[in-house]
Amino acid sequence: MNIEENQVVNSLRLEGVQYGVNGKQIITDATGSIPDGQITALIGPSGAGKTTLLKLCNGLISPTAGEIYIEGKLIGDLSPITLRRRVGIVLQSSPMVKGTVYDNLELPLRLQGKTLSDQQAAELVERVGLPAAVLTQDARELSGGQRQKVSIARTLVNNSKILLLDEITASLDPESLQEIEELIVGLNRAESVTVVWITHNLAQAARVGENFWVMADGVIRAAGTKEQIHASEDEEVQRFVKGVLS
Ligand SMILES: Nc1ncnc2c1ncn2[C@@H]1O[C@H](COP(=O)(O)OP(=O)(O)OP(=O)(O)O)[C@@H](O)[C@H]1O
Ligand SMILES: [Mg+2]
Repeated sequence: MNIEENQVVNSLRLEGVQYGVNGKQIITDATGSIPDGQITALIGPSGAGKTTLLKLCNGLISPTAGEIYIEGKLIGDLSPITLRRRVGIVLQSSPMVKGTVYDNLELPLRLQGKTLSDQQAAELVERVGLPAAVLTQDARELSGGQRQKVSIARTLVNNSKILLLDEITASLDPESLQEIEELIVGLNRAESVTVVWITHNLAQAARVGENFWVMADGVIRAAGTKEQIHASEDEEVQRFVKGVLS
């Protein structure tokens, strides 16, 4: 199908995506669109293929079949730099390089041969609710919550309109968890950033998600609003979300 002929060009669209490694099929069929400017919660049992799907959408790995489109363009046709700029990713524990928070924030730009101005750095930490003083701190001495905020800020350097999040609050205390949720929801609302958010915390998924993808065994079994997910006749989906995604 020629995606350009569609009236609406979704930020992220998957067509019959498969991924296998060492003869093992991990993603057997992933087809669907991520609604622009919304938060999509990607949920499903452990081993369903959620992280693998996110890595495919970020170009870290390539599908063995099917196509992934970013803003209407085949992912394989985008240069690695363009892809990194359009699609940001934050993981459960994003590694920090040796140095200050400033050094870490500058990293994505240094990779593009650019530098980060003091003003840009100050704006970035402000956007994620950290005091400017944090910029000169050793990045590896931050608390878990601060670290995740720096990881998010580092992704914001590129002003990506698509943000992929993998279990970013899994190891945080309740207060930091709430701050990060508010931060992401705020970014989404204020800047129309399209978010795909993997979480095992179904209460969190229900709080932040406007749209849901439920994966099991390498397949997107159900997609849509909470009501549409509850109306799914797929038994695995029913078992997984029963009474929890409310
Ligand atoms: N490089 C790899 N080589 C072999 N198997 C892999 C590889 N990467 C992932 N897998 C397998 O693919 C399946 C899906 O893994 P994935 O990490 O995507 O699941 P997940 O839904 O993110 O799970 P979790 O919720 O536990 O994080 C798992 O069975 C995993 O063991
Ligand atoms: Mg995972």
